[in-house]
Amino acid sequence: MRIGILGSGLMGGKLGTLFARAGHEVVFSYARSDQKLKRLAREAPLDSLRSLGTAQGNARAGTPSEAARDADALLLAVHWSRVDDVLKQAGDVSGKVIVSCSLPMNDADDTLVVGHTSSGAEEIARKVPGGAVVSAFGTVPSEVLFGVFEARRKARRPSLVYCGDEARSKEVAAELIRDVGFEPVDAGPLRIARYAEPFTLLVAQLAYEGDEGPELAYRFEWFGK
Ligand SMILES: NC(=O)c1ccc[n+]([C@@H]2O[C@H](COP(=O)([O-])OP(=O)(O)OC[C@H]3O[C@@H](n4cnc5c(N)ncnc54)[C@H](OP(=O)(O)O)[C@@H]3O)[C@@H](O)[C@H]2O)c1
Repeated sequence: MRIGILGSGLMGGKLGTLFARAGHEVVFSYARSDQKLKRLAREAPLDSLRSLGTAQGNARAGTPSEAARDADALLLAVHWSRVDDVLKQAGDVSGKVIVSCSLPMNDADDTLVVGHTSSGAEEIARKVPGGAVVSAFGTVPSEVLFGVFEARRKARRPSLVYCGDEARSKEVAAELIRDVGFEPVDAGPLRIARYAEPFTLLVAQLAYEGDEGPELAYRFEWFGK
């Protein structure tokens, strides 16, 4: 797949790198430094392609509109306060699958500013008419992503919940979730993000305030099967 990364920070930089290592074509965009985007593009590709240099590698740096153009899927990974700006720069995203890990947090990053009767994911869907939004990856800390990828051949993968309203875009998201090394758990329609987004604050509490460090993932198990 061709994947445009809108927001190349902790989440976008790492997920874009892992998508590239899983064999996808990736365009990193939206950071305050072009040098950072270029470095991500240089370092992301598969070892076999990296040795050929960036020109032939499967990752490159670009603007949000370049990332969106020709993309099969977009990863939206910016702070809530930057969502409007990055979407404006991306331009027309109708018909695109938009996988969002962005949480509707306040500027201090300690409170959800949307909840109960809506979710960040639903608000984003309203901003991109014609785009197919799937909420995914937002329920785990960035620190665990590389470890999950490295352990992807082990039998028991960690879970990752995702939700969305459109079957085709959910299939794309599930494929990307598997590529990173998680077992996708379909939580239903996009409005289920109302439950998933507060759950993330619990995960963050355990990851950042617990004694075991932030490399934390979760696994749901169904007993009685
Ligand atoms: N971090 C986590 O573990 C985690 C986990 C779950 C969900 N989330 C959610 O995922 C989203 C992304 O989080 P993150 O931690 O990846 O954020 P981040 O590290 O701050 O990355 C955001 C990206 O946006 C860029 N950016 C910010 N302001 C900009 C501007 N004015 N112009 C251009 N680029 C700008 C940043 O540029 P620079 O690279 O130059 O800073 C960075 O590349 C958030 O909504 C967050 O709540 C994060």
